[in-house]
Amino acid sequence: MRLLIADHYSDMCRKAASIIAAQITLKPKSVLGLATGSTPIGIYEQLATWCQHEDLDFSQITTVNLDEYYGLAPDNAQSYHYFMAEHLFSKVNLPKGRQFLPDGMNQDTDRECERYQNLIELLGGIDIQLLGLGHNGHIGFNEPSDAFVKDVHLVDLAEKTIEANKRFFDKAEDVPRKAYTMGIGTIFQAEKILLVVSGAEKAGILKQVMYGPISPRVPGSILQLHADVTVVADQDAAGELTSKRN
Ligand code: GLP
Repeated sequence: MRLLIADHYSDMCRKAASIIAAQITLKPKSVLGLATGSTPIGIYEQLATWCQHEDLDFSQITTVNLDEYYGLAPDNAQSYHYFMAEHLFSKVNLPKGRQFLPDGMNQDTDRECERYQNLIELLGGIDIQLLGLGHNGHIGFNEPSDAFVKDVHLVDLAEKTIEANKRFFDKAEDVPRKAYTMGIGTIFQAEKILLVVSGAEKAGILKQVMYGPISPRVPGSILQLHADVTVVADQDAAGELTSKRN
């Protein structure tokens, strides 16, 4: 795992956005795997700014998101469809027909999982997958459990995740209890992985992810086995790592 330590959140965003911009420039038809959560917001802002200044072109890009809440429609302000439209898709020249997320409204769960998994395979896989890190070590919505799940699946969200994500909802009861997520195998098919982590409250879990035992109890720890992972962490998140500053 390659580690880049940023001075602060906006520096982290700029570094991560530069890596994604390099991917888009070098391969204009890239498939980008995208993430939600508060951490990537500044990255999307930076990419949108470059696109608006015509320094970056999304016209041939395809995007696939990691996950979506089960039962939330795209026009629900808490859905990840809505998040992506608000923070990125409405601001860049990415064609609507090439923005993909799991369909949270599809109640035929086996079919939806199969559809989304097949779609990613049909696209030829992901060139670069952006990941945030949950407070419990989850990536996408792969929650701590007894085993890693390979493909796209419907997951029961962990209490810690519901607790962490309730800040986006009016009340905790409104947070969906289930979500569709790419599996660990789906994420691992990506050629490159870019993990972004910000804030002192993630310092302990980032240390476990990078240097702890590989275990489905800390889902992000599996990233130690991927051949091309770049971690961009701000100083607060990197506070418990011993490596020298880059
Ligand atoms: C959600 C998303 C994850 C994300 C995590 C961390 O649970 N499904 O993909 O990494 O939140 O979010 P934040 O960046 O807000 O801490």
